[in-house]
Amino acid sequence: MKILVVGNGGREHAIIQSLKKSKKIKEIYAIAGNGGIANDAITVDMDVKDVQKVADWAEQNKIDFAVVAPDDPLVLGAVNLLNEKGIPCFGPTKEAAIIEGSKIFSKNLMKKYGIPTAEYETFSNMDDALSYLEKCDMPIVIKADGLALGKGVIIAENLDDAKNAVKSMMEDKVFGASGSNVVIEEFLTGPEVSVLSFTDGKTLVPMISSMDHKRALDDDKGLNTGGMGTVAPNPYYTNSVAKECMEKIFIPTMEAMNKEGRTFKGCLYFGLMLTPKGPKVIEYNCRFGDPETQVVLPLLKTDLLEIMQAVAEERLAEVKVEFKKKSACCVIMASKGYPEKYDKGFEITFKTSRKNVFVAGAKLDGGKLLTNGGRVLGVTAVAYDLKKAIKKAYKKVDKIKFANAYYRTDIGKRALKAYGEKI
Ligand code: AMP
Ligand code: GLY
Repeated sequence: MKILVVGNGGREHAIIQSLKKSKKIKEIYAIAGNGGIANDAITVDMDVKDVQKVADWAEQNKIDFAVVAPDDPLVLGAVNLLNEKGIPCFGPTKEAAIIEGSKIFSKNLMKKYGIPTAEYETFSNMDDALSYLEKCDMPIVIKADGLALGKGVIIAENLDDAKNAVKSMMEDKVFGASGSNVVIEEFLTGPEVSVLSFTDGKTLVPMISSMDHKRALDDDKGLNTGGMGTVAPNPYYTNSVAKECMEKIFIPTMEAMNKEGRTFKGCLYFGLMLTPKGPKVIEYNCRFGDPETQVVLPLLKTDLLEIMQAVAEERLAEVKVEFKKKSACCVIMASKGYPEKYDKGFEITFKTSRKNVFVAGAKLDGGKLLTNGGRVLGVTAVAYDLKKAIKKAYKKVDKIKFANAYYRTDIGKRALKAYGEKI
């Protein structure tokens, strides 16, 4: 089979390395891929947001199955266009991808169907938003309605910061049109858990749980980033929490989307907070998380292509999805200065196998792999327990060199603490 994976980051590299294990696959293409993905797939230079061009290319090149991984092309309808051309896909249509594409849609969906989430109000008028803030307890959370590269969430500690956040989104348009409408919601507390799931609209199968580390610096300090590392499973996600989430959140969400005429097929991501009042949804994503995928897929035992085809054909119930009884840790190696200003173009050298080393931001130049982004690599290790996985991941990191490399040294520490252990 000829497979196309749309996307160009570490998540797509993890998907491709996982798909490559399937015997059914002859060729994997990546649009646009990157210099590291080029090691595992044939890369095709194209803007992933130009969804018409992507669909035309897939048709001309007789692609048998496509996986659309990032939020932008999903929200823009890449799957609709590919399906119109008769190409089966893993990923939701744009009608279903709105669950991530509009926070107002997802909040209203949860309210309508009684799915636990933070209390909120939505605003399209700035003055109304500003006067509402006067009545709110602090801290308070302000979210841009649309996609904002994972940056559209501001937690304000006081009224001034909250007002400035609303103004920056609605008046200064720092997130462009994404901030024309905002959600103002209650600040929740508790451990965070990411749960990715496979769903075909009839069956929903949660994958192994994971924990992200969003802040740039050790001890969860510094700026928010796209994610500096992950571990799986997440120790806070016990069997009883999993059962509660399945009953009160996962199945109700799948059914709610069906009732709205927006059946979701693909990977539905639940960003959860385990609050003193039970698990609540912080956010939905319409796709695999990044860098959660980099720890979840290396633990998958079942053939990924088989699952993805079953989802596309609405027969997920027939597939037994299994995960290894092991742990995984992914350490992101970034460019010094990320998520703000950083230099790029430094050569990356490996004194270790590149299996489970997922390239996010690098390009090939005359056979050399050069840094080309803020997050450069996701270095994953799998072991029988979390402590060993963490050690193994950092050992691997030591064997990969590039100038200005920066990484957190405490990925997994929070999870080990929850298990009552130290690094
Ligand atoms: P998001 O981009 O929606 O994942 O939000 C980024 C981060 O903001 C989340 O991972 C949470 O840590 C935090 N956050 C979002 N919503 C809330 C909330 N209602 N209460 C507390 N923290 C939140
Ligand atoms: N790691 C969270 C996300 O992919 O948005």
